[in-house]
Parts: sequence; C-alpha cells; structure tokens
Amino acid sequence: MSTVKAIYPGSFDPLTNGHLDLIARGAKIFDHLVVAILKNSEKSPLFSVSERVEMLTEAVQPFGNVSVATFNGLLVEFVLEQRAQAILRGVRAISDYEFELQMALMNRRLAPEVETVFLMADEKYSYVSSRLIKNVFELGGSVEGLVPETVISRLQARVVPNRR
Ligand code: PNS
Repeated sequence: MSTVKAIYPGSFDPLTNGHLDLIARGAKIFDHLVVAILKNSEKSPLFSVSERVEMLTEAVQPFGNVSVATFNGLLVEFVLEQRAQAILRGVRAISDYEFELQMALMNRRLAPEVETVFLMADEKYSYVSSRLIKNVFELGGSVEGLVPETVISRLQARVVPNRR
C-alpha cells in the first residue's frame, strides 16, 4: 500500500494557531506530515531556528504522524530528499493567492512530480499572521487565543511590550 508524505514549509516565526489548525488538517489527510522550518531566511527572525524547532516539536506532540525538521536551500530538493510527494501550504485570503501560485508553479517547474496542496485554516484565523502577532505583542496588545501558550510565554520572555 502506498503512503503519502507531505512537507509543510514555512518560517514559523512564531508558530500561530492558524499554522496549528493547518497542521491538524494536514495530519488527517496525509500519512505523514513534516513541518519544515526554513533556516536560511532573508528576514531577521525574532526566534532562532532552534527555538522554533522547540516550539513546533512541543505543539505537534499530540499528532502521531507529524514531525519537525529544518531545511536550507531549495524546498523541492528537501521534498525529494525526504521522499515526500506533496507540499502543503495554507491560503488565508485572496491576497495570499498570487504569491502562493507563483511558488507552486515554480516548484512544479523544478520538480514536476511534487504536487502543492492548499488547505484553508479555520476562518477565525484568516487574519492571523506571524508578522501581525509580533507587531501586536510588541505594542502591548493581547495575542491570547491566536498563538499556543508556549509561544506567549516565549514572547513574554523575549519582547518587552512597548506600551503607551
Ligand atoms: O512562512 P513563509 O515565509 O511564507 O514560507 C515561505 C517558504 C519557506 C515556503 C519559501 O520561502 C520557500 O520555500 N523557500 C525556500 C527557497 C525556495 O525553494 N525557493 C524557490 C521556490 S519559489
């Protein structure tokens, strides 16, 4: 019997409940899901790669078929190295679509045997992004319910909110 393995790539700086919702959906449809953190991101991250690995490893523990990895370089090379068949990505709104389409088509050109699968997280997370989480927290706003508790305590340890 053939099994389907998918890679869910991203920066996850930090992990949000939108990411977790997508992981839960991916875990239901794929035999194995690997959450893959990009190491050589151009962005200057808030959390180091090892901190993000820790947060994700803790968060995916309830799922028996989800693991966490890191990768460098081309995503499709990592997908092929892992002997995975699919890339999982989330689409929140139409604004995500254009860039996601470009990435999916570029990845298809690079590795035609790999399919990109798009899933929608619950609409209650449709406005949640790592960038906004960092911004709101830094300015003293509440991100309760939008990120896992482990992320909140790490944000508290890392960022002194800039309250007015
Ligand atoms: O969480 P993000 O920042 O939206 O994730 C973007 C990510 C990591 C999926 C993307 O930047 C990526 O795949 N980078 C690896 C480099 C690569 O393969 N580039 C060519 C494909 S478009």
